Amino acid sequence: MRPMIHGERVRLRRVERSDLPRYVEWLNDPDVRDHLALVHPIGLAGEEQWFEATLRSEPSCQPFAIDARGADLQPETAAEPWVHIGSAGFHEVDWRNRAGELGLVIGRKDLWGRGYGTEAVRVLARWGFLELNLHRVQLKVYQDNARAIRAYEKAGFKVEGCLRQSRFHGGGYHDTLVMGLFREELR
Ligand SMILES: CC(C)(COP(=O)(O)OP(=O)(O)OC[C@H]1O[C@@H](n2cnc3c(N)ncnc32)[C@H](O)[C@@H]1OP(=O)(O)O)[C@@H](O)C(=O)NCCC(=O)NCCS
Repeated sequence: MRPMIHGERVRLRRVERSDLPRYVEWLNDPDVRDHLALVHPIGLAGEEQWFEATLRSEPSCQPFAIDARGADLQPETAAEPWVHIGSAGFHEVDWRNRAGELGLVIGRKDLWGRGYGTEAVRVLARWGFLELNLHRVQLKVYQDNARAIRAYEKAGFKVEGCLRQSRFHGGGYHDTLVMGLFREELR
C-alpha cells in the first residue's frame, strides 16, 4: 500500500477496519479519553458504525491512521517498520473560509512526549495548506491539556481565545482554548 502523506518518522494513511480494535482500547483508556470530547465508553460495534460513516463522509474529512517508525517502536516484522500509534484528521472543513478543524490522538501513551504528536500535526497541517489549499488550521483543546498545547505550539499554533467554562467534566466546568495556524506560521 502506498501511504498518502509522509513525514520523517510519521505517516498518515487511511483507517482500515483492522485498526478498530486498537481504537477501542485507546479510547476507553481514561488517560487518553480525559482529553477528548468523549463521555460514553466505546465498543467495537460502535466503532464499526463510526468507520462506515467515515467512508461516506467527504474525503478531506475522513480520518487518518498515524503510523510511526523509530528505534523506540517494536514492529511486528522487520520488513514492515511502521507501527500504528494513533489517529488524526480534519473533522470539519469550512470551504468558503478555507478553515480546517484538526483533531489528534496518539493512542500509544507509552510513546507520549517523544515528538510523534508534533510531527503528525506538522504533516497534517502541511498537507492541509499545500493540497487542500486551506487558509487556516484551527482546533480546540482543553486548557488542562498542557502536553497537547505544547505540541501544537511547537508546530506553530497560537492561542487565539478561551471558551470559558465550556466543558463539563468530573463534576465541574472547565475552559477550552481555541488555537489557530496560518501556513507561514507552520514550523
Ligand atoms: C496530545 C498528544 C497528541 C501529544 O502527542 P505527543 O507525541 O505526546 O507530543 P510531543 O512529544 O510531540 O510533544 C509534547 C510536548 O509536551 C511536553 N509536555 C509533556 N507533558 C507536559 C506538561 N505536563 N506540561 C507542559 N509540557 C508538557 C513534552 O515535553 C513535549 O515538549 P518538548 O518537546 O518541548 O519537550 C498526545 O499526548 C495525546 O494523544 N494525548 C491524548 C489525547 C489528546 O490529548 N489529544 C489532543 C486533544 S486536543
